[in-house]
Amino acid sequence: PKKKSILDFYKMKEEGDKVAWITAYDFPTAQFAEQAGMDMILVGDSLGMVVKGYSGTVPVTMEDCISHCQDVRRGAPNTYCIGDMPFMSYQVSNEKAVENAGRFLKEADMDAIKLEGGQRVCDQIRAITDAGIVVFGHIGLTPQSSGQLGGFKAQGLHVDSARDLIDDAIAVQEAGAEALLLEAVPPELTEFIAKKLKIPVYSIGAGLPCDGQLLICGDMLGMFQAFTPKFVKQYANVAEIEIAAFEEYIKDVKEEKFPTDDHVYNVQDPIEEFEKL
Ligand code: KIV
Ligand code: NA
Repeated sequence: PKKKSILDFYKMKEEGDKVAWITAYDFPTAQFAEQAGMDMILVGDSLGMVVKGYSGTVPVTMEDCISHCQDVRRGAPNTYCIGDMPFMSYQVSNEKAVENAGRFLKEADMDAIKLEGGQRVCDQIRAITDAGIVVFGHIGLTPQSSGQLGGFKAQGLHVDSARDLIDDAIAVQEAGAEALLLEAVPPELTEFIAKKLKIPVYSIGAGLPCDGQLLICGDMLGMFQAFTPKFVKQYANVAEIEIAAFEEYIKDVKEEKFPTDDHVYNVQDPIEEFEKL
């Protein structure tokens, strides 16, 4: 398939075609996502939890992100890919934000970057946009600032915080972001924001009424065991499949049922020649 551009996503919003995307962090998952026809792929800093086993995303580095973006790009050369900016790669200054955002394009061939926050990162969004880079905003449950939120908690459940999120959404669009991701906010708020903004609004745990849905591959495939957010629908249980396969393999090895004649390379000269060795 031909790789989509940001214009296709604008058109899809206009025509009411929903965007389906997942996170991926490695070559095989990226390949499978592209073969399945995924509209876009996020190389999320959730890789810290899903792939590296951290309890949050805060420890993830630029080097981690760039490396995984490169792996995903090799697996999905024809899919729109978004690189996720890790904690402290954009908060410190506009200059640092632009420099790091640029690395996702120059070193990992990403199509866009995503960063977390509303009004308080609008200077950075503008600076990155002015450098010619497509920015995806991300508000609501923002894992990099989960310390301030008191954990991985749904946001915008009450009128005051919902109003703040609406202000954030508008500010992010005004700053030049070309799409916005809402995480773990009520569908009523999602619908309001999606109607209010010109840019596409996507949901992860933010309900149906918007322009598309994102899930974390580790959650939807059943590969992440630490916890499962309420908003996850599990489409497969890969952990179960892998564990069963490993158990069977262990049993085969112990009982010498593997390898068999099918799994070996047989000699190509008369066996007598080998017996003289
Ligand atoms: O890193 C990630 O996967 C994300 C999603 C949780 C939105 O940012
Ligand atoms: Na993230």
